[in-house]
Amino acid sequence: MIPSVDQSERYGQRVFSPEDDTEGERLAALAATFDPASRGHLTAFGAGPGWHCLDVGSGAGTMARWLADRVGPTGSVTAVDRDARHLRAHHDPRLTVHETDLTAFDAGAGRFDLVHSRMVLMHVREHEAMLRRMVGWLKPGGLMVMSDSAELGGASSTHPAYRATLTGLSRLLDVTIGTDTNHGRRYPGLLAECGLTGVTLAVDLPVVTADSPMARFWELTIRQTAPRLIELGLVEPGAVDEALRYLRDPGTHELSLVLCTASGRRPA
Ligand SMILES: C[S@@+](CC[C@H](N)C(=O)[O-])C[C@H]1O[C@@H](n2cnc3c(N)ncnc32)[C@H](O)[C@@H]1O
Repeated sequence: MIPSVDQSERYGQRVFSPEDDTEGERLAALAATFDPASRGHLTAFGAGPGWHCLDVGSGAGTMARWLADRVGPTGSVTAVDRDARHLRAHHDPRLTVHETDLTAFDAGAGRFDLVHSRMVLMHVREHEAMLRRMVGWLKPGGLMVMSDSAELGGASSTHPAYRATLTGLSRLLDVTIGTDTNHGRRYPGLLAECGLTGVTLAVDLPVVTADSPMARFWELTIRQTAPRLIELGLVEPGAVDEALRYLRDPGTHELSLVLCTASGRRPA
């Protein structure tokens, strides 16, 4: 039985608070894990010179800065995040940065060739309404590329402490900020329901080894959330410590999250 929690809590208020000293490094580890895949997908879609792009929930800002390189002086990149300190920390005059909650943001109708977002809407309770609004920010013919996770490995790991800790973490995010860690699987259907055409889906599965950025991401994520995991009785303290040791073990080869990347075009 989980104690009752505040159903209005949002990402960054308590869970993944910007006040936590390690949040910047945690976001950088996530970006290092998934940027190669995201860059590959966007390159294949033809993102390039002259494109006007919106990156929603930019986090460390690595994808927004990479897009700014690609679109060049005739294009533009707008980045939005409720906590833009990591975007500002790597000041880039080519980016227009908005620090605001996504649900209160209006990018303007029909403005962008590309709307991109990775690992963000899975944490937003109003994700379906938000997705519809984001589709409206695309130009006719514009491309939407949305990535979120699906779980693969936490619940099926043969390592009991790792399994218990990642399973407890998913439950914690669900009951506190309303995260759906399987949200990525829903995107093809959701994009089609929003009227986008030519919908595609790609999946990327990083292996978790001791020296991988994915292991560092999990270590920092578990350390940040451990007090609440334990407070809510979702994981035993001993299991958390053992999972952290396992993540640092050179013999570890694990799975955790799949990045599901779906795309679709607004009809011209
Ligand atoms: C898991 S991080 C992903 C960061 C980045 N997109 C990446 O994949 O590397 C989620 C990001 O979304 C932002 N975020 C979450 N909910 C938000 C909201 N309601 N409005 C604006 N930003 C939000 C967080 O501040 C954080 O930077």
